[in-house]
Amino acid sequence: MNNNDLLKLFIAEYGNSSLPVYTFFAPGRVNLIGEYTDINGGYVFPASISLGIYAAVRLRSDNVICFKSLNAKNKVIINITQTLAYKEEDGWGNYPKGIVYYLLREGFELKGCDILFYGDLPDGAGLSSSASLLVLTAYLFRYINGEREIDKLALASFCQTVENNFIKVNCGIMDQFSVANGKNNSAILLNCKSMKFKYIPFSLEKHSLVIMNTNKKRELTESKYNQRREECEQALAILRNHRPIENLCQASMNEVITYVKNDTLRRRATHVITENQRVLKAVKTLEQGNIDEFGDLMVQSHISLRKDYEVTGLELDCIVENSLKIPGCIGARMTGAGFGGCAIAVVENDSLKNFQTIVSNNYKKQIGLTPYFYVAGISDGVKPLGVV
Ligand code: GLA
Repeated sequence: MNNNDLLKLFIAEYGNSSLPVYTFFAPGRVNLIGEYTDINGGYVFPASISLGIYAAVRLRSDNVICFKSLNAKNKVIINITQTLAYKEEDGWGNYPKGIVYYLLREGFELKGCDILFYGDLPDGAGLSSSASLLVLTAYLFRYINGEREIDKLALASFCQTVENNFIKVNCGIMDQFSVANGKNNSAILLNCKSMKFKYIPFSLEKHSLVIMNTNKKRELTESKYNQRREECEQALAILRNHRPIENLCQASMNEVITYVKNDTLRRRATHVITENQRVLKAVKTLEQGNIDEFGDLMVQSHISLRKDYEVTGLELDCIVENSLKIPGCIGARMTGAGFGGCAIAVVENDSLKNFQTIVSNNYKKQIGLTPYFYVAGISDGVKPLGVV
């Protein structure tokens, strides 16, 4: 979507006025490796992508905020002088509403405004559409209120609070962080305990990063996500009886094997600890230009998420297995929370067409759904686009 089209759509929705219209973009993200490590004090290695959500916004002279999305039917209208609460029927509108609720709670002086959202990021597909919407909304409110030096780390953590407490998904910091801090052509190595991070150049040259949407809508994701988080906490509590560690990533595999006797908890902890080690190895292999080894680590990550963490499911396993059969595909894995949604593959540029055709046909035959493919660019984090 270009800025002019967005402005036209905004005027079509809200009408003309002499006041300026501001436009913004927030990306989605893929996680290259490091799944479910953020909630266990470990490393993640995500990158923000060129698919994302756009917003156009114009101030009003009253206390009303209108949220309209071109991707949804319902318009959500709130009044900032009234009590705001999560409402099932507001659907996607609860995300920007949650931002308003928490900004007001923190003492921000908000003004009424009209907002139009448009996203080319598939919804609920594991590419962080929620974090993108949250970060975009928080950023735009602060921007139109005159702030220009917006602290992206604080912004990410604020949005995580909203998702945890208003939306009630007990997610980690990875998604909000990468949407806020993404950088063109770079992935981010983030230590989720210290919040120190490093940009790692990610240009594959002879390969492309393919995002594969299984088109299996994630179901019960929130409750299963929260359940995995609790299991990790239970494993941590057992390990803490023997050594005062702060998080699961600080435990060794030896300790897990010795002390965590419950099979489910042991497998969850095994995934987290080995995945955390894989992140650091993956960054090293990339820095050394060893793309094949990077691909192997992706495959190991998927296997661990399938066997030990159990968050993949039929559709993600099918698309990953079919991908790995194609010559030219050097690695593939699910990305994000799992239970459906998207997988990623690193594929030689020359094999791309063949790859998409064969994987798509096989997946369709075996699952009965048509997958979507996107060859992703890696883009900057949330940013203003312009003002007219
Ligand atoms: C979701 C959460 C993240 C992270 C991933 C799994 O995307 O929002 O915090 O836990 O799942 O790695």
